[in-house]
Amino acid sequence: MKFTIAATTLSVALASAFPQKNAQVAMPDDIHAWHPAGVNDLRGPCPMMNTLANHGFIPRNGGNITKQNAIRGLADGLNFDAALASLMWDQAIIANPEPNATFFTLEHLNQHNVLEHDASLSRMDAYYGNNHVFNPEAFATSTRYWTDETLTANMLANSKLARMIESRAFNPNYTFTANNEQFSLGEVAAPFIAFGNTTSVTVPRDLVLYFFEHERLPHELGWSKKNETMTLKDILNVVSSIRNATSLLTPESASNQTADGESHGIPEGVQVARRSLHLPVGV
Ligand code: HEM
Ligand SMILES: *[C@@H]1O[C@H](CO)[C@@H](O)[C@H](O)[C@H]1NC(C)=O
Ligand SMILES: *[C@@H]1O[C@H](CO)[C@@H](O)[C@H](O)[C@H]1NC(C)=O
Ligand SMILES: *[C@@H]1O[C@H](CO)[C@@H](O)[C@H](O)[C@H]1NC(C)=O
Ligand SMILES: *[C@@H]1O[C@H](CO)[C@@H](O)[C@H](O)[C@H]1NC(C)=O
Ligand SMILES: *[C@@H]1O[C@H](CO)[C@@H](O)[C@H](O)[C@H]1NC(C)=O
Ligand SMILES: *[C@@H]1O[C@H](CO)[C@@H](O)[C@H](O)[C@H]1NC(C)=O
Ligand SMILES: *[C@@H]1O[C@H](CO)[C@@H](O)[C@H](O)[C@H]1NC(C)=O
Repeated sequence: MKFTIAATTLSVALASAFPQKNAQVAMPDDIHAWHPAGVNDLRGPCPMMNTLANHGFIPRNGGNITKQNAIRGLADGLNFDAALASLMWDQAIIANPEPNATFFTLEHLNQHNVLEHDASLSRMDAYYGNNHVFNPEAFATSTRYWTDETLTANMLANSKLARMIESRAFNPNYTFTANNEQFSLGEVAAPFIAFGNTTSVTVPRDLVLYFFEHERLPHELGWSKKNETMTLKDILNVVSSIRNATSLLTPESASNQTADGESHGIPEGVQVARRSLHLPVGV
């Protein structure tokens, strides 16, 4: 951990040398300063991979995303556990069409219906043209549902559902498989993992807007990398909350139902009968 301490000391030294420039912005260190993509840099549909490239946590040119580079970038940029980053890379390497590829590029992620899918929160469907650049109109459809300064699982679920309904209604080529759904839930969970609380499943809206709109980590707004390492368990908890929140149903009897879903006052046998009355056996 000597390297980390040295890097922190360096950034503190730089901050006091240039107080007017760095007063508000606690950057981890100099080499991870944000620069927008240059004309020859590759970028894709993932706002976070673009962001990590803009900060140099993964190659700034958007190429050579080897497993090693992904593990290091997700750890240094977001404190992701190595096993989690490794799993994500394993799922993404199919993006490179070469057999037995050892890296992918951010541009590889653009290929429609490999990993990239319809009904993204902030990108247009491939049917309409560019499926990977941030699209303000698409994003506005999503943010309409981000109705409080603290975002919840319900709000993210609402925006995901709205984008899917918009696509199914107006894109004659709308495609969204069960596999797309699994990835989509992970993506919609991502803002809570990077910028929020994975236990309460809440995240400040300003951080999420800033991140999507600038493809930049929101240090400027007071955010800093989590001290706790994010693991698959954190993702699964948030994904479960969002999956649950995609149901538009409310509890049967609001006054006898607590937030944790437990019923009070109704005998258990009656609850089971109510749940199963109209369902085929085995559902
Ligand atoms: C190996 C690492 C990763 C790969 C290969 C990857 C790849 C992708 C791809 C292909 C998409 C586009 C899906 C679509 O069509 O909407 C996407 C979307 C997204 N990713 Fe990533 N991603 C990675 C890591 C992350 C991380 C660490 C985060 C944040 C914690 C993140 C946040 C998001 C978000 C929020 C979206 C949704 C964008 C939208 O719906 O407009 N990703 N990612
Ligand atoms: C790609 O990244 C690996 C580390 O994962 C590094 O050893 C290699 O030199 C890089 N290749 C290029 C062309 O930058
Ligand atoms: C890819 O790896 C498999 C299994 O190791 C091997 O059989 C195959 O020949 C490799 N293909 C190429 C193009 O290297
Ligand atoms: C149209 O839908 C088909 C079938 O789902 C899919 O393979 C193709 O990539 C889609 N094309 C566009 C531009 O959406
Ligand atoms: C996250 O939320 C939980 C449950 O509401 C709370 O106990 C915890 O203090 C929160 N963590 C942070 C860092 O705010
Ligand atoms: C991490 O810990 C340091 C030292 O206790 C603290 O100053 C910082 O605010 C913490 N970061 C987060 C994101 O909680
Ligand atoms: C989601 O719903 C299931 C089934 O009701 C429940 O077991 C699970 O605890 C819920 N997940 C979360 C994170 O609330
Ligand atoms: C809730 O449960 C109580 C006690 O069993 C019962 O008297 C009451 O009518 C229930 N309320 C509703 C809205 O079902």
